[in-house]
Amino acid sequence: MFFQFLICIFSWLTFASAAPPQTKLGCQSTCGDVSIPYPFGIGVGCYQNSELALECNKSFTPPRLLLGNIPVRNISLLSGTMTIAFLVSFNCYNKDGTSSGKFSQKMTLASLFTFSDTRNKLTAIGCDTYAVMSDGSGDIFQSGCISFCQNSDNVVEGSCSSIGCCQTAIPMGLKTLNVSLSSFYNHSNSWAYNPCSYAFLADSEQFKFSRSDLKNFTGIGPEIDNQISFLAVLDWVVGNETCEKAQTNLTSYACGDNSYCDDYHNTNGYRCTCPYGYEGNPYLANGCQGLCLRQGGLCKAKKVTTACIRPWWRWGWGILLLLFVAIAFWFYGKLKKRRALQRRQELFKRNGGLLLQQQISSGESNVEKTKIFVTEELEKATDNFNENRVLGRGGSGTVYKGMLPDGRIVAIKKSKLVDETQIGQFINELVILSEINHKNIVKVIGCCLETEVPLLVYEYVSRGTLSEHLHGKNFISSISWEDRLGICKEIAGALTYLHSSLSTPIFHRDVKSSNILLDENFKAKVSDFGISRSVPYEQTHLSTLVQGTFGYLDPEYFHSGQFTEKSDVYGFGVVLVELLTGQKPISNTRSEEEANLAMHFISSVKEDRVLQILETRIANEARKEEIQIVASLAKKCLKIVGKKRPTMKEVLIQLENLRVFQHQESLRLLTEE
Ligand SMILES: *[C@@H]1O[C@H](CO)[C@@H](O)[C@H](O)[C@H]1NC(C)=O
Ligand SMILES: *[C@@H]1O[C@H](CO)[C@@H](O)[C@H](O)[C@H]1NC(C)=O
Ligand SMILES: *[C@@H]1O[C@H](CO)[C@@H](O)[C@H](O)[C@H]1NC(C)=O
Ligand SMILES: *[C@@H]1O[C@H](CO)[C@@H](O)[C@H](O)[C@H]1NC(C)=O
Ligand SMILES: *[C@@H]1O[C@H](CO)[C@@H](O)[C@H](O)[C@H]1NC(C)=O
Ligand SMILES: *[C@@H]1O[C@H](CO)[C@@H](O)[C@H](O)[C@H]1NC(C)=O
Ligand SMILES: *[C@@H]1O[C@H](CO)[C@@H](O)[C@H](O)[C@H]1NC(C)=O
Repeated sequence: MFFQFLICIFSWLTFASAAPPQTKLGCQSTCGDVSIPYPFGIGVGCYQNSELALECNKSFTPPRLLLGNIPVRNISLLSGTMTIAFLVSFNCYNKDGTSSGKFSQKMTLASLFTFSDTRNKLTAIGCDTYAVMSDGSGDIFQSGCISFCQNSDNVVEGSCSSIGCCQTAIPMGLKTLNVSLSSFYNHSNSWAYNPCSYAFLADSEQFKFSRSDLKNFTGIGPEIDNQISFLAVLDWVVGNETCEKAQTNLTSYACGDNSYCDDYHNTNGYRCTCPYGYEGNPYLANGCQGLCLRQGGLCKAKKVTTACIRPWWRWGWGILLLLFVAIAFWFYGKLKKRRALQRRQELFKRNGGLLLQQQISSGESNVEKTKIFVTEELEKATDNFNENRVLGRGGSGTVYKGMLPDGRIVAIKKSKLVDETQIGQFINELVILSEINHKNIVKVIGCCLETEVPLLVYEYVSRGTLSEHLHGKNFISSISWEDRLGICKEIAGALTYLHSSLSTPIFHRDVKSSNILLDENFKAKVSDFGISRSVPYEQTHLSTLVQGTFGYLDPEYFHSGQFTEKSDVYGFGVVLVELLTGQKPISNTRSEEEANLAMHFISSVKEDRVLQILETRIANEARKEEIQIVASLAKKCLKIVGKKRPTMKEVLIQLENLRVFQHQESLRLLTEE
């Protein structure tokens, strides 16, 4: 916008703007695609002289502009020319040498027109061709050209030089032209490739000879009564006299107030032009418009005798303007830089940067271990948050893979929204994670708060989420039973650590398979602490708005709104069932009352159908005893709290016992062998 405005101002100061009109007010300005400048015009009052009256015949498509009966293709005020259609003369023979058709074009122009001797050439095409042009009677001049070819191979493509094609200049000031053709041998030698001779007046700028013209010449002008035509150029003037004479009678003088008169070189007559620096139609009263005139009439007063020289002050303004623009840009750049800095500081504040700094300075947490990144570092690391770096998209944001300058591969989470709660969750997760150091909990490396949305940087865990491996199309059954047991124990270990080993326990509050990450050895890492809370020991529950994921939500928490450590156990129970069955926590392929996996599982246990709902791989790999133990453990986890839902610690102990049991089993097998 700003830039366009500048350009506009600049051109106003130095150059002319919109093109001035070419036609008298209220007159038709075009016919088809041909424009009609004054002194030409259609209808009384629209032309300067009756010889310059045109017609527009709309029964043709496109409409055809006519001078008398000659089609007009173009009118130029600048060069005083007009492009017209000129009928092609022909002389055709049958194979036996008898005539099959002959036509000679004769054209007589009105007193203000002449055939342009500089643009036109008499042009003939044929291999047995003798073209003659003359004025009407042949008294004044007669001329022509001859074209021959021995065979069609002699003909040079594009070259009009007497083999198949010839051209000759026309005299100055010609007003009548008769073009006729004759042949020497009635085309009997060349009939096969050239049955006709053609001759016409051609605008040499538009004529290009082609070998195929010998066989089938079509012309480039409009067809007139089924006859082909070519384009020729006429010169025109506006009066019969010289300028000097014309200016003595101002009622008939054709040039506008501020235009020059030019004598026409060929015959008597004159034309008008705009002075240098002006443009427009010199035949209209005030048709020539220069920038001087349009910007205050500086030159008008001097009567148009010299070309308008752009005054020095206009250049001065131009230079001043440029200077001004340069300075403006410089300031703009500075301002932009400052704005950007301010914006970053604002964002840092809004994104909880102050909260974080408080935490750091109060020494309450280990946050200082986490690095605060600047925007550029993370943009570089993720290739400007390139789409093909996306690792996953979750409810809370998008996770990108990135590489830090020191070569470390990291996962970078970009918050989705920028509302207060999201930012709160971000800082919460950062603070919680930076206090934790456990091998089965994802590590946070740093954060960036200067961006529009805050960013968190984690260690990169290569195999993605447990959910993907259990339910993703490409991974189904990718994890062995043994690894699954390991994963159970690792999650249980991590949750037990959160619940019982910290000075203030942490409830994760969103335990689900898509929040469990797997490393290259299928070791589990619990992640996503966005809604987790530190809850002092003496406080047994947390009353909050119900948050979490449907399918993993403890029904009791759902009803009471009171989250206890056992609600995490419920979520863990659902993950256990997922590991056993490979089914999704919520699925509409199951019946309505069993869409919820936990319900489905419990009813299967009750009806003793557990084996039937196991994932095939598990049914094959796991021992019956192991399945019984894990299934009953899962059932306990999904129990109502009052009915002895175990704590995470108890769950862990049972899972550890399973390992002892496994160990004993293998010992038993060994001793049996
Ligand atoms: C337009 O051209 C057609 C065909 O040549 C002719 O019959 C008709 O009279 C012309 N119309 C006018 C208005 O000149
Ligand atoms: C008429 O001539 C001008 C200049 O020679 C050219 O720019 C324009 O395209 C021509 N118009 C047609 C319809 O041939
Ligand atoms: C050529 O044709 C004309 C009539 O069109 C005829 O009078 C003449 O004899 C012919 N000449 C030759 C050489 O065939
Ligand atoms: C044109 O010129 C040819 C050859 O000079 C002549 O025979 C013919 O009668 C002329 N045509 C007209 C219409 O004057
Ligand atoms: C002549 O050429 C035109 C196109 O240039 C084509 O439409 C026409 O059919 C050709 N006629 C013959 C007889 O080859
Ligand atoms: C030009 O002069 C001729 C004769 O000298 C005359 O017949 C014709 O009408 C004049 N044309 C104009 C436009 O004055
Ligand atoms: C000036 O031109 C007008 C219009 O062509 C004409 O009527 C008038 O007689 C001319 N005057 C002189 C003095 O030639």
